[in-house]
This record gives sequence, C-alpha cells and structure tokens, in this order.
Amino acid sequence: MPELRQALEALGLAVRVGEPIARHGFWRIGGPADFLVEVPDTATLARVRALGAPILVLGKGSNLLVSDAGVRGITVVLGGAFRSSVVENGLVEAGAGLPNTVLLQRLQKAGLGGLAPLAGVPGTIGGAIRMNAGTRLGEISERVHSVELLLADGRVERVDAASLHFAYRRALLPAHAIVTRAWLRVSDEGVDAERAAIAEHLAYRKATQPLELPSCGSVFKNPPGDSAGRLVEAAGLKGTGSGGAQISELHANFIVNRGDATAADVVSLVRRARDTVQERFAVTLEPEVHTAGDWPGPPF
Ligand code: EPU
Repeated sequence: MPELRQALEALGLAVRVGEPIARHGFWRIGGPADFLVEVPDTATLARVRALGAPILVLGKGSNLLVSDAGVRGITVVLGGAFRSSVVENGLVEAGAGLPNTVLLQRLQKAGLGGLAPLAGVPGTIGGAIRMNAGTRLGEISERVHSVELLLADGRVERVDAASLHFAYRRALLPAHAIVTRAWLRVSDEGVDAERAAIAEHLAYRKATQPLELPSCGSVFKNPPGDSAGRLVEAAGLKGTGSGGAQISELHANFIVNRGDATAADVVSLVRRARDTVQERFAVTLEPEVHTAGDWPGPPF
C-alpha cells in the first residue's frame, strides 16, 4: 500500500488517502477510497493503470452507488486535458471528464446545438458514453461519431460509434477499456427549436422529479413498454424508507438521501422495490444505477 502511494506520487500526482466517496457522488453516499488521484491526460492514465492495482474511474458519481466499505486500489478522477472541448467540421471533440452541463453551455455560447439528449443529465461525457445516457429527448448514441478508448493493454484507439453497439442505457466497450474522449455531432441548425424543447423538458423534470434531494436519478431502467416509476408506485412503495434513504414520494423510480443514508439503506430499498414489483406484476426491473467498491456479495 505505501508503495502504491509512492508510485502514484512518482507520476507527479497529488494522492488523497482515504478520501470519502460521499464527497464526490450525487447520492452523498460511499466509504473511503484507498487512494484518489486526479489524472491530467491519457498518457498519465495509462501509466497509472500500468501499476496493476484495481482502478475505478469516477465521473460525477451521478449514476453510481459506492459501498459503505469504500473502494480499494486507485480511484481516478479525469481532470486537465480530459475537460477540454474543440469544435471542428461539425464535430465537438470532448474529453471524458468534461461535465455534460459545461459542454452544453460552451456549445450554446458558440450558437451550436445537437446534444439535447444530454440536457438535464448531470454526469460527464465519459459516463454518458459508457451508459448511453438519455432522456425523452433522445439518447447520446444518436449523436456519437467516434470514441477514443484506453484499452486494457495500454493502446489508445479511436473507434466508430457502430463498434460500441449502443442500446438502451448501454454501450459494449472492450473489457477494461476506459473512455478518454468522444467526437459528437453538433450543428447550428434548428438551435432555437432545440432550446425550447430543452427548456420544456427541464421544467417537466423539475415538476416530476425530487431534484432538491441527493439521488442518482432513475434507479431502474424502464422495462419494455412500461415505466419503472409507475410499477414501483403501483406496488405501493412510494415514500417507503430504509434508514436515511427513501423511495421518493414524488417519483417512485428515485431513491433520495434524506441526510444520513448509507449504501446499505439504498440497497435494501432497491431490492425491496425489485422483489415487490416481481411478485405483484411478474416484471423484472433491472437497475440503471451502477455499483462500485467493496461489497460482501452482489448488491442487487
Ligand atoms: N410515473 C408514475 N409514478 C411515478 C413516476 C412516474 O406513475 O412515481 C409514470 C408517469 O406518470 C409517466 C411514466 O411513469 O406516465 C414515465 O415517467 P416519467 O415521464 O417521469 O419518465 P421516466 O420514464 O420515469 C425517464 C428517464 C429519466 C428522464 C425522464 C424525462 C429512464 C429510466 N429515465 O424517466 O432519466 O429524466 O424520462 O425525460 O429512462 C435518469 O436516467 O437517471 C433519468 C432521470
């Protein structure tokens, strides 16, 4: 362990030891990271990975439940060059660590649109690609031209969108690949209409989702032809609590942290919602949120 810290410092990185993940994620939940570093570029990321320790790449933690026991090995935040964006030939090249909101603001200033599916989605570009983020305004995959990956063997490769086989909230990345940047199609056409659609969508979310309390958005994917929120509500679970966590009274596919929720509290509600919906309606809900860290067994 002290060797790992020294090896990270030898790469010129500031190492935070035992950093609580709760400080980083949207749920405000999660135990300590053994070592957390902000990495400035792909070459350094490749060197960090070559150290051989387990790695968690943390975006904004807006769709991630980290265990109360925390994360072993190295937790990486993508900084520096990973937050840049450049527009050229109808594409914006965006680093994986760039928050979606920042990219949308930059494009708006430049009079460009095309990325409506990211409106109101709070994570980073890397996270959005990995899980094909989207809303009722579409999915980001519709706008992806190509993606740069750091592969398990240390090679950096730019691949076409088609090779990622995007599906609902899913992309098929090669094993252990890390998304490092993406090229997304932008346009100066139809910008006003898009802006109006985004404003309407954000107002809808504000009215229907508990945005003032920490959460990770939708907990479950929508099953084909139905809605997870509708099913959890119909199962009578709106408002159900476990410790500091609660199935939102406003939107039943949200679990909110009322102040002192633990990952275990959230897990018990996720299981309860999934099992009750299965029993009552014979529908299997699949979690949309990802999990990370040390768990005694599979959390869901
Ligand atoms: N509904 C209920 N009870 C509830 C919640 C919803 O009956 O407690 C009903 C609504 O009345 C509506 C239907 O379920 O008829 C769908 O609900 P909603 O319009 O709120 O959308 P959603 O399918 O629950 C999706 C995305 C959200 C996104 C919204 C709006 C998924 C899993 N979720 O939610 O994305 O903000 O549309 O575009 O696709 C996220 O992915 O984290 C997320 C928040």
